Amino acid sequence: MNDGYQLQLALPDDFHVHLRQGTQLPAYARRSAAQFGRILVMPNTLPPICDGAALRSYRAEIHTAAPDCQALMTFKLVPGMGTAAVQDCIEAGAIAGKYYPAGATTNAADGVADPQQISDELALMQELDIVLSIHAEDPLSPAMEREAAFLPIVERLIRNYPKLRIVLEHLSSAAAVAAISNWPERVAATLTAHHLTYTIDDLLGDKLQPALFCKPLLKSAADRAALLQAATSGSPRFFFGSDSAPHPADAKLSAAAPAGSYTAPLALPLLARCFEAAGRLDRLEYFVSRAGADFYQLPPKQGSVLLTKKAWRIPERIDDAIPPEAGRLINWQAQRLP
Ligand code: NCD
Ligand code: ZN
Repeated sequence: MNDGYQLQLALPDDFHVHLRQGTQLPAYARRSAAQFGRILVMPNTLPPICDGAALRSYRAEIHTAAPDCQALMTFKLVPGMGTAAVQDCIEAGAIAGKYYPAGATTNAADGVADPQQISDELALMQELDIVLSIHAEDPLSPAMEREAAFLPIVERLIRNYPKLRIVLEHLSSAAAVAAISNWPERVAATLTAHHLTYTIDDLLGDKLQPALFCKPLLKSAADRAALLQAATSGSPRFFFGSDSAPHPADAKLSAAAPAGSYTAPLALPLLARCFEAAGRLDRLEYFVSRAGADFYQLPPKQGSVLLTKKAWRIPERIDDAIPPEAGRLINWQAQRLP
C-alpha cells in the first residue's frame, strides 16, 4: 500500500487484555479504549477476580477510567472456589471463566493443577453456557513445548464437557493451530499481535528484548507462519486477543523480568503490518471486529477505526512500560472514530 492509504474498520474488540489494578489501571484502560470498543478483561489481579463483588467493583473502576469502552468481565477459576462463587460471578455479568494452570504465568500460583479440581465449576459453566478461557500451557514441560504438551488436557476437557464452549488463549504454535482446526466448532482461539509478528529470535537472537518476553514464549518462523495463516484465513475459529500485559519498566529491566508484552498501544498498527505483508488486509476487519464478537454472541458495536499508512515513532516508554520496538518507526497509525 502507498503512503497515505486509508482503511476504515468497524470498531474492533480485544478479547484478552490485562489492565492490572491501582494507579496505572486508568492509563491502561484508556490506551485500550483508544482502539477498541469492547475488551475482555483478564482476572489475574492480586487478589484475583473470583466473586461477584470483586468483579463489579473492578468493572466500575474500568468504566470510570474509560467510559467509551465496554469492559467484558472474566473470573479466575481457582481450586475450591465452588459453584456458588461461579454463579455469583455470572450473575455479576462474567462472560468467561479463566483457567490458568498453576504456575503457568504471571499471578497464576493459585491456578489449577488438575482439571478435576474444578469439575463442578466447569459443569456449571457448561450448563449456563459460559465460555471457558484457557491459558493452555503445561508449566512442567520444557519452555518451548508447554503449549503442545497441554493439548491432550484440552482434548479431555472437550470430551468430558460436550457442550462447553472453549477459547484457547494466545496461540503460539503450529501444533495448536492444527488442533483447533480439528476440534469441534465450539472450540476457538485468540491470536495476539506479537505472536503474529515476532519469533523467538526477535526476543533473544541478538540483544535480549525484555519487552517481547511473554507467556507463551514466541516460537519459530514456521509457527508464526501457521498463526498468520490462521489469522488471515477468514475462519470464525481464530480472532483477536492482544494479551497486552504491561509491567513497569523497572520490573521488566530487573534481573528477574516478568512475562508480558505491552502491546495495546500499537496493536492495530502491528496487525495492519502483518496482514498487509500477508496480502490480506481485506481480512483484517473480520479478524479484529467480527469473528470474536460472533463467538461470544455479542451484537455489532457502533463506531469505527481509521487505519492510515503513515510512519510514526514508537515511544521508548508508554505508561511507564516498554512497548515492543520502542524507539523504532512503524508504518501504520490507528485512530478511533465516533
Ligand atoms: C500475562 C500477565 O502479565 O498478566 N503475561 C504474559 O506473559 N502473557 C499473563 C498471561 O496471559 O499469561
Ligand atoms: Zn494474558
